Amino acid sequence: MRALTWHGRHDVRVDTVDDPEIVNPRDCILRVTSTAICGSDLHLYDGYIPTMRAGDILGHEFMGEVVEVGAKSTLKKGQRVIVPFPIACGDCFFCKKQQFSCCDNSNPAETSDASNAMLGYPMAGIFGYSRLTGAYAGGQAEYVRVPYSDVGPLVIPDHLDDDKVLFLTDILPTGWMAAENCEIEPGDTVAVWGCGPVGLFAVQSAFVQGAHRVIAIDHYPKRLELAKQMGAEILDYREVEVLSALAEMTGGIGPDACIDAVGMEAHGLSIDNVLDTVKAHLFLTTDRAHVLRQILMAVRKGGRVSIPGVYGGFTDKFPVGALMEKALTVKTGQTHVHRYKEPLLKLIEEGKIDTTFLISHHASLEQAPEMYKHWHDDQDTYTKIVLKTDAAAVPGADEQAKQSELA
Ligand SMILES: NC(=O)c1ccc[n+]([C@@H]2O[C@H](COP(=O)([O-])OP(=O)(O)OC[C@H]3O[C@@H](n4cnc5c(N)ncnc54)[C@H](O)[C@@H]3O)[C@@H](O)[C@H]2O)c1
Ligand SMILES: [Zn+2]
Ligand SMILES: [Zn+2]
Repeated sequence: MRALTWHGRHDVRVDTVDDPEIVNPRDCILRVTSTAICGSDLHLYDGYIPTMRAGDILGHEFMGEVVEVGAKSTLKKGQRVIVPFPIACGDCFFCKKQQFSCCDNSNPAETSDASNAMLGYPMAGIFGYSRLTGAYAGGQAEYVRVPYSDVGPLVIPDHLDDDKVLFLTDILPTGWMAAENCEIEPGDTVAVWGCGPVGLFAVQSAFVQGAHRVIAIDHYPKRLELAKQMGAEILDYREVEVLSALAEMTGGIGPDACIDAVGMEAHGLSIDNVLDTVKAHLFLTTDRAHVLRQILMAVRKGGRVSIPGVYGGFTDKFPVGALMEKALTVKTGQTHVHRYKEPLLKLIEEGKIDTTFLISHHASLEQAPEMYKHWHDDQDTYTKIVLKTDAAAVPGADEQAKQSELA
């Protein structure tokens, strides 16, 4: 089959690789129809996630048709499903508590040592995301093996197109959980750093969950414009001093809750961020936590901090005094997608949430390497890229074929 594989920093290729096989009775095999590129894939592309190997298949946002089932799968051939990006067994202590992204069984013993050493306990499995998370082949491929297929996949009704439901795999529940972690109260002002897909869905979710005002921060004009269209007030961090702007907009109090939808690759020319960048290049630190530091200073006393942005290792210059002395609450984590997939599907079906506005580009799987480059280099134009494994299913493919015939 054809699959998008990682070969090093800024080097991904579409290769012919072995087809996946059922290895456990709870597995199924999916023929992938649509798959998206995520901000988290950029951390791999930029070489920030250790334990990747040349040839690893990427992709953790995918959906498709069930083509093979193990004896204990509850799925049937022909069903269309979305698949949550964290891999969860459904039976362990953590899955029973609905903390699916903390599953204790999905990261095999031979790959769990690295995260055990880095984090104190092993991480759960995640599709297409290094040996830290189980070395599972990802779904930016024609076919993918889905472990615990009796727990993760959600069957999608035929009348809903792929584009309407694909983001249930990750970014929509991630934006939703980010807002939920803010424990929004009537009258609240929520500030969101980062207007990528996660930040934009956090803006949308914060309003649905009752925020009075949402302030969105980024510097890309098109992404800020999308946030504005959703009702957010916007701040360009290159144009204004973010801390004083937020204080001014909130009567000197600060936002009630703040969301870090940026994570470990914060941009900006502040002293702390420049130092982080130099140290990261010298392998003296891993994470550029500029946004998190700014949030701890900006949020009001007694406020709430939600961190969906991914951090992988260590940081310094951390304002621990602000965290403690201001009596802040912090909530974070890889998203417990399994918890949200059904209620969010219902909101999509009822027309209360639309996620298609986010898609700026469709392309074929074969075009994935150039799409990774655009996603990395031109975040203003590329707000979300959806890849179709069948090139003929790319919207406008007929038209393009006709044009090239004429040429
Ligand atoms: N917790 C989870 O389960 C989960 C799931 C998906 C993604 N993520 C993480 O969420 C983060 C966002 O994902 P995405 O797909 O939206 O990524 P993205 O790269 O598309 O968006 C990040 C945005 O942050 C902005 N930004 C950078 N520096 C900033 C600063 N100093 N102030 C304000 N904005 C700044 C960028 O301009 C960009 O628009 C990533 O770290 C990703 O890994 C986490
Ligand atoms: Zn993702
Ligand atoms: Zn589990």
